[in-house]
Amino acid sequence: MDFTFLFLLPFASICFILCFYLFLKFISSNGRNLPLPPGTLGWPYIGETFELYSQNPNVFFASKVKRYGSIFKTHILGCPCVMISSPEAAKFVLVTRAHLFKPTFPASKERMIGKQAIFFHQGDYHTKVRKLVLRAFLPEAIKNIIPDIECIAKDSLQSWQGRLINTYQEMKIYTFNVALLSIFGKDEVLYREDLKRCYYILEKGYNSMPINLPGTLFHKSMKARKELAQILDHNDLLGSFMGAKEGLTDEQIADNIIGVIFAARDTTASALTWIVKYLGENPGVLQAVTEEQEAIIKSKEKSGEEEVLSWADTKKIVASILSFTFREAVEDVEYEGYLIPKGWKVLPLFRNIHHSPEIFPDPEKFDPSRFEVTKINKINK
Ligand code: HEM
Repeated sequence: MDFTFLFLLPFASICFILCFYLFLKFISSNGRNLPLPPGTLGWPYIGETFELYSQNPNVFFASKVKRYGSIFKTHILGCPCVMISSPEAAKFVLVTRAHLFKPTFPASKERMIGKQAIFFHQGDYHTKVRKLVLRAFLPEAIKNIIPDIECIAKDSLQSWQGRLINTYQEMKIYTFNVALLSIFGKDEVLYREDLKRCYYILEKGYNSMPINLPGTLFHKSMKARKELAQILDHNDLLGSFMGAKEGLTDEQIADNIIGVIFAARDTTASALTWIVKYLGENPGVLQAVTEEQEAIIKSKEKSGEEEVLSWADTKKIVASILSFTFREAVEDVEYEGYLIPKGWKVLPLFRNIHHSPEIFPDPEKFDPSRFEVTKINKINK
């Protein structure tokens, strides 16, 4: 091999890495002398994505928190990020200074779900789509399909008889079937298998690096995304979601359909899986939940109400939904003496907060009443 090439390659790589760091330093200083939060940014562009995905994410984040504290920087999925893991910082980003941080997602997700999906917008368009999505999922709207959802649940339970199952995978199948039914009604039967096949390929690429080269996960997912748009492009399918089209284009409806499946599926499947696990491990809680639901049925029988769940009932049953989210700094922001540069992603690490021994005396214990803890109330004052 050419000697000059052998010499130049490492030299060029070092120059590139140096320029990248100088660039990050330049965009982050922006005329102010605040330091960036502690932490490491890993390799150029790739950052620490492989470290994150090659191990349990809990371990990745917990070891960073241990080393750098509750605010640290990293670089994942092509984006420089600031991770925060204290309730005060989460409140700063999501509540008190919410205007300084806009909702955002990694580029791979935006390109796969579709740029017209609700998550990537603010303002009038966001308000309009939010109203339409909410309307499609109000108890009033889904009331009529409850018996069909019950059928899906019973079929799932039956198919698990005598089998060793992976609960999360089975819950994903269940929630996908419910999502298709809720969005398309009975029309979905015609397209179900094709929708499933494409969506399953698509979701594999949600957290991939956005490198659109043949053979990459991202490339395969983008191909499946195109096919999915073609299937959705049947007027009967698009029309059935959100009632009338309300002035939205086919692209806007298709992106929001894929967006809603994305929002509803893994989240609900994950919540159901945790419910099964913790109810199984905590007979006392299982007993309390059973009694609670039986009381709801009894009170309905007494008042002669229909045995369909209302929104008020649902609120009694679901104690709390834990959330995590991405934000992006819309300008340079100072937090606790550190600079969060404009354009950087900010991720509140709710899992770390919810497992912090400083807030919860026994953080690993399953305790549905943990969010009544007075410390949380103090923070909210
Ligand atoms: C246990 C289940 C669920 C969890 C944990 C969950 C969690 C979340 C979180 C964390 C966000 C982002 C909030 C933010 O960044 O401020 C979100 C947004 C959203 N979710 Fe869910 N979700 C669940 C179920 C669902 C379901 C079933 C649907 C659809 C029927 C849905 C539709 C949406 C939509 C449309 C948004 C965007 C809202 C907006 O931008 O205004 N989610 N969800």
